[in-house]
Amino acid sequence: MKKKIIALGADHGGYLLKEAIKSYFNANDISFIDFGTASESSVDYPAYALAVSKAVVKGECYCGILCCGTGIGVSIAANKVHGIRAAVCTDEFCTEMSRRHNNANVLCLGGRVIDKDKAVLLSKIFLETPFDGGRHQKRLEQIQEIENNEKIL
Ligand code: RB5
Repeated sequence: MKKKIIALGADHGGYLLKEAIKSYFNANDISFIDFGTASESSVDYPAYALAVSKAVVKGECYCGILCCGTGIGVSIAANKVHGIRAAVCTDEFCTEMSRRHNNANVLCLGGRVIDKDKAVLLSKIFLETPFDGGRHQKRLEQIQEIENNEKIL
C-alpha cells in the first residue's frame, strides 16, 4: 500500500512546533515533506501555506499541517486555495471535530498558543480521526459550491 505523505510548513512563529511534529513523525515512521521554513528567522507565512496547500490539492500529500504564531495567518492563506479546508485548532475536541464534521485537510497550529507536546497530540488526533460523512457531506458540497460560484463573481 502506498504510504500517506503529510505536507508540513511553518513560518518563524511555528518553526519549533513543526520541528517537534517532525521528530514525532520520524520516530513513528510517518512520511512527510517539509516545505520549510528552516529556522526561526523571520519569514512571511503565505508562501508556506501555499506550498503545503498545493501539495494537498494536487494529491501529492494526503493532508497538511501548518504552523505560525497563532495558526490564524496560515489558515487564512491556506483557505484561499480551492479544495483546502484548513482548521485552526488549539484543543483535542476541535481537532477531532475538524476531521469528523469538516473533513479538514490542513491542520493549523500556533507556536505562541500551544506547546510542542500539544502540537504533537493534536497532529496525532488529526491524522487518526476519520471523516464521519453522512449529513456532513452535503455541507462540504455547499462549501464547494461557494468556491465555484466565487470564481465567476
Ligand atoms: C508572525 O509574527 C506572525 O504574525 C505569524 O506567525 C502568525 O501568527 C500570523 O497569523
